[in-house]
Amino acid sequence: MGSTTKILITGGAGFIGSHVVRRFIKNYPSYQIYNLDKLTYAGNLENLRDIDKSPNYHFIKGDIVDSEFIQQLFSEHDFDGIIHLAAESHVDRSIANPIEFVMTNVVGTVNLLNAARKGDKKRRFYHISTDEVYGSLGTSGLFSEQTKYDPHSPYSASKASSDHFVRAYYDTYGLDIVISNCSNNYGPNHFPEKLIPLSINNIRNNNALPVYGKGENVRDWLYVEDHASAIDLIYHKGKSGETYNVGGLNEWKNIDLIRFLCKTMDVKLGREIGTSERLITFVKDRAGHDLRYAIDASKLRNELGWKPSVTFEEGLEKTVEWYLRNTAWLDRVTSGEYRNYYEQQYTHR
Ligand code: NAD
Ligand code: DAU
Repeated sequence: MGSTTKILITGGAGFIGSHVVRRFIKNYPSYQIYNLDKLTYAGNLENLRDIDKSPNYHFIKGDIVDSEFIQQLFSEHDFDGIIHLAAESHVDRSIANPIEFVMTNVVGTVNLLNAARKGDKKRRFYHISTDEVYGSLGTSGLFSEQTKYDPHSPYSASKASSDHFVRAYYDTYGLDIVISNCSNNYGPNHFPEKLIPLSINNIRNNNALPVYGKGENVRDWLYVEDHASAIDLIYHKGKSGETYNVGGLNEWKNIDLIRFLCKTMDVKLGREIGTSERLITFVKDRAGHDLRYAIDASKLRNELGWKPSVTFEEGLEKTVEWYLRNTAWLDRVTSGEYRNYYEQQYTHR
């Protein structure tokens, strides 16, 4: 790729997107990185504070659901590639308000696909998806790239639908696409509505730790920077038209994970072991709650040579330390103050 390579990253102000933007800014100084984000409640430009003055970084506030705006943006910039992470991402919110998920995850993705296939330029469209499209496993087995789609929540149904559209644009229009389906991520800058950051914040504040149902559901956890390294590799080396599963071979029952987190936090906070566990509170189960996700990432390992850089114990320790060093970040997110960062940094330039 040449010195003027322009890459559009959507959803770069979110949790995973911010790690991907940072990695690309640092590793590829010759690329111009355009971060397109609507700044919904999940978008936080403070996540990118350390790199947002870099000469190869550009922020664009905008909505992928707005097809006219997307077409204009592509005419203006003629991007060389797209890494698409913008989405509504929280299952519980999708149960409360499914239509937002259809708009952003399905319509927004199709708008980007339409813009990406226009003109003569061959550009790569990389769609970031989730293991939830495969549905739920029993007590054994792993999701492979051949597993049939069987989504159960409005969130996973919207992601499955967008995956189908992306493949349809490869088959129908010959668009250069790759898709990856990743398991649960954790790490710095994770919005504290999701299990791990919510629990860290609640332990810190001595608030109840809500565990859905009996806490028997299993998730396969991957450190977010290891997902970002997989995204980098797949964007550059992934075979056109292919899907790659990404996961850490790291399954945890929710209740075991919370107990382990409680112990880690007790040590870090200098509390007597067992103190935080007393905050565990079993609450009503999530509707349609998938029992178990677990990823077979052997294709990505064998074909592209990817492997995670940290064990779960190391990753969780790094994560807890990050949150305890960045309580101000947590407080600005939970108070809503983070929403002012865009106004302060971008509207008066
Ligand atoms: P997130 O909710 O933290 O961030 C999503 C970002 O997209 C936010 O910055 C938000 O402002 C932006 N956005 C939302 N709607 C938009 C719109 N209409 N136009 C432009 N921007 C919009 O999400 P995340 O956890 O970082 O997930 C990123 C992607 O990775 C999603 O596609 C998600 O499905 C996928 N994924 C997430 C996980 C996980 O564990 N978090 C695992 C596998 C795959
Ligand atoms: O598997 C990948 C998916 O992982 C991503 O596609 C999603 O965007 C991401 O949000 C995540 O989905 P989950 O539903 O698995 O994540 P969440 O953190 O919401 O929940 C993890 C597990 O913990 C799940 O079994 C529900 C449970 N849970 C969650 C919350 C928020 C609780 O028991 N209590 C809680 O308060």
